[in-house]
Amino acid sequence: MAGERDPELLTLAEALANDPRPTLVWGERTAPLRELLPAGYPVRFFTDDLATSRELGCPLGVVPERGDETRVALVMPRAKALLELRVALASALLPPEGELWVAGHQQDGVKSAETVLEAAGAPGTTHVVHLKRRCRVLATTLDAARPADEPGLGRFEERVPVKTGAGGYEVVTLPGVFGHGRLDAATAALLSVLDARAPGYRRALDAGCGAGVLGAWLATKRPRAQVDLLDVSAIACAAAQRTFEVNGLSGEVHLRELEDLPKASWDLVVSNPPRHTGRDHAHELTARIIDAAAWRLGRGGRFICVANHAKSVTDALERNFRKVEVAHHAPAFRVWDCER
Ligand SMILES: C[S@@+](CC[C@H](N)C(=O)[O-])C[C@H]1O[C@@H](n2cnc3c(N)ncnc32)[C@H](O)[C@@H]1O
Repeated sequence: MAGERDPELLTLAEALANDPRPTLVWGERTAPLRELLPAGYPVRFFTDDLATSRELGCPLGVVPERGDETRVALVMPRAKALLELRVALASALLPPEGELWVAGHQQDGVKSAETVLEAAGAPGTTHVVHLKRRCRVLATTLDAARPADEPGLGRFEERVPVKTGAGGYEVVTLPGVFGHGRLDAATAALLSVLDARAPGYRRALDAGCGAGVLGAWLATKRPRAQVDLLDVSAIACAAAQRTFEVNGLSGEVHLRELEDLPKASWDLVVSNPPRHTGRDHAHELTARIIDAAAWRLGRGGRFICVANHAKSVTDALERNFRKVEVAHHAPAFRVWDCER
């Protein structure tokens, strides 16, 4: 049953059922909530994540449209900085004295949401609505006298300067996007392999682009090439778009699954696929992305990726490519250079 797998959603559903009113539920992996709520409950869903949006048939993006709800229920996101961003954006959407809720599991740091809500709400209004299964639902009432928040994303952006053999550029990151505010060690290793090997391409794809750090290398190195970037997270795509804008680079960002792109259409795919999904290793997802990336390549196409050294990863590389070479070893990951 959904609730046993999703204790925070079951706890949120109970809290919502006890106090029915039009609510915007905002978060990832929220689809099971629909069947946990009483039939006809006045709820609207919004998410940053393509899979959740497809499951729910709900809008996908970074900022929801303003509705007539008086309550926004946020499901604890993967990063506290992303919670702060959503609390600020949700406060700007709600009417004066609207209610903001945050639901989450203790393991996902829901307790830390209390200080975030206290900062956004009227003094003395932050409280626990429901506490069960090591999960809690917290609430605050907005301060009717608060100054209106600037609803844009600009003040949450951070810029990370990156120096590569192709040239220097600034990566614009946002909360919740992989490598927010820093350059990840595995990404840096992949960039150094790209610098050293200087692969040729006319059409190149950055699969799982995050803030677009690899795609920016591709567009900087060969400004006349067509560069595509893809991610399943709307906020990652927004950051990648900004990275290309601030550096004057040309490329197209796709908020899609890799499987939805045409086959045999690129001559280079680069990727730093997810290493974790929530608290679990993502070897299977990595293998799926490798399979899908291989099909996007034409004959002789090249795939350069960084991943954990797991059997499912090497199996996926071996079954898809005729040449598989380790270009960089590190204790936690490897960079592979493969040919179709
Ligand atoms: C480890 S991060 C790498 C981001 C960026 N390339 C970098 O190196 O900083 C992996 C990215 O893959 C994205 N992702 C997760 N599942 C995906 C999928 N099924 N298809 C494409 N991208 C996915 C995540 O949203 C995340 O931005």
